[in-house]
Amino acid sequence: MSSAGSTYWAEYDGLQWAKHQLLESYLEAWFPIMATRNGRILYIDSHAGRGRHETGHRGSPILALELLLNHSNRERILSNAQCQFIFFESNPENLALLREEVSALGGLPNRIKVTVLGGDYESA
Ligand SMILES: C[S@@+](CC[C@H](N)C(=O)[O-])C[C@H]1O[C@@H](n2cnc3c(N)ncnc32)[C@H](O)[C@@H]1O
Repeated sequence: MSSAGSTYWAEYDGLQWAKHQLLESYLEAWFPIMATRNGRILYIDSHAGRGRHETGHRGSPILALELLLNHSNRERILSNAQCQFIFFESNPENLALLREEVSALGGLPNRIKVTVLGGDYESA
């Protein structure tokens, strides 16, 4: 797998699909649960990637953000907790594309904050 290069992003295979299905079911259930227990949810994606495959399929950062934005309990989640998303991406090309994808979401609710950081997640 060329995770930083273009090959990875040119396709959307079964493994990528399965990983995102798991993430989706996990966050669907856990965003509301975490919001009842903490005033702040911190969601970190250490290997965020481009945010979207060339096939149009969403990558993990956009999937997580859209899941919260479209969650049936969104208002309750956001009234209980501020949701801070931090996305790390070390590849400059991927980073620029990710920033475009996040911007394309438009204005976000006040209680959702997104920070996209370049460089190595571990050093940061
Ligand atoms: C498999 S892809 C990410 C897929 C993404 N999580 C998704 O599900 O859509 C891995 C990404 O991590 C980035 N990456 C690799 N090592 C990294 C590091 N140490 N810190 C931050 N990003 C890293 C690569 O440039 C690549 O874009």
